[in-house]
Amino acid sequence: MTDDSSNNAPKGQAMWGGRFTAKPAELMQAINVSIGVDRRLAAQDLAGSKAHAAMLAAVGAISSEDEAQIQRGLMAIEGEMEEGVFPFREEFEDIHMNVEARLAELIGEPSGRLHTARSRNDQIALDFRLWVREACDRTVDQIIHLQQALLAKAEPHADTLMPGFTHLQPAQPVTFGHHLMAYVEMFGRDASRFRDARARMNECPLGAAALAGSPFPIDRAMTAAALGFAAPTANSLDSVSSRDFALEALSAATICSTHLSRLAEEIVIWMTPQFGFIRLSDAFTTGSSIMPQKKNPDAAELSRAKVGRILAAFTSLTVVMKGLPLAYSKDMQEDKAPTFEAFDALQLALGAMAGMVSDLEPNRDRMAAAAASGFSTATDLADWLVRELDLPFRQAHHLTGAAVKRAETLGVDLPELSLDELKALDPRITEGVYSVLTPAASAASRKSYGGTAPEQVRAQIARWKEVLA
Ligand code: ARG
Repeated sequence: MTDDSSNNAPKGQAMWGGRFTAKPAELMQAINVSIGVDRRLAAQDLAGSKAHAAMLAAVGAISSEDEAQIQRGLMAIEGEMEEGVFPFREEFEDIHMNVEARLAELIGEPSGRLHTARSRNDQIALDFRLWVREACDRTVDQIIHLQQALLAKAEPHADTLMPGFTHLQPAQPVTFGHHLMAYVEMFGRDASRFRDARARMNECPLGAAALAGSPFPIDRAMTAAALGFAAPTANSLDSVSSRDFALEALSAATICSTHLSRLAEEIVIWMTPQFGFIRLSDAFTTGSSIMPQKKNPDAAELSRAKVGRILAAFTSLTVVMKGLPLAYSKDMQEDKAPTFEAFDALQLALGAMAGMVSDLEPNRDRMAAAAASGFSTATDLADWLVRELDLPFRQAHHLTGAAVKRAETLGVDLPELSLDELKALDPRITEGVYSVLTPAASAASRKSYGGTAPEQVRAQIARWKEVLA
């Protein structure tokens, strides 16, 4: 390992090297070293050390002079990190020992007292938990931003007609605002999943030490409070060996990424010349190097794909954790890379999606024309027959099917069938039927709570505006 005499170990030895006589094999170092990944926990590691040092002094486990030195050194390290001059060194293995080694260089002997009543096992459990907690908070903020973009786009289009689909076949007319608001609901549940996960993970593992707790009179409530936790964790073995907080966050991330991928897919479909429902500006599209006419929805496609990495991270950590005996095992060092990657991917996809939603402009004419095609008001005809002629719905459904077949034969849409044609199906049908056969009438009639009638859509927009305010 290192020959740097300023770390807390005797010359030529790793910090943990007291009982070792030989240096580790190069491959041992290569498989063991984690600083390339866990350097992203630097801020969390420093926060944990500051809280721990303050607590040690408060309970008399270290002197206040030593604590002052330690805090001064930690601040200096923080400054070095902010300036980008902190030396992250592979020979010190991970973030904890990099910080401690640097502290030793900066303040000397008192640095060796910081690790009293602490282990890297509870240290990493803390650092990683702090990071995931922040990632959840950041994600919730981003989700809210995306929801606001959806709301802002839904409002002017609360009565913009489009076809509603099932099986991607025209089903019944809906409004574009209503369609966008469906995603506001989905992302709302995503945000609430991240909040729930955060609340469950918000217990502080610091003080569990290696696995069994500490013989020092530590004040775990004090460090928990200083680090913004609701309470200290109640079982030291669980504290150092659980990563379900990360799994839960990753599962919420996976579900959220499926919602992103569905919206992304719709943007891709809507943008095709065949659909022509929306336009995306040049900001979120790319051209082709060979086909000059192309405008490709790359940002949507990449957002659609991110679920691959995110689900992979969830799978990866699940497999790492499966079957691990208590308490800490080094396997758990493999928790961070996938988690970081997943949240990086989610952050990009959420940001790009908010940008695309703000950017997209629907083509009202194309959407309205599509909403009118495909016999989209057939259900409205059936409902009219139920209401006006008191037919049982099944019979009305059958009769409407015959009307659709007739229209198809004549090559017209339902509202274009003459009254004579309709009367041939049932002589009691009157002129009044035409009032329900337009897409606008169809959408406007669906006034049930949560339905697509513009007044319902506006009510939901207003409700969400308040929720998000
Ligand atoms: N780098 C380790 C990790 O990420 C920290 C804990 C190591 N503990 C140990 N006893 N080797 O999990």
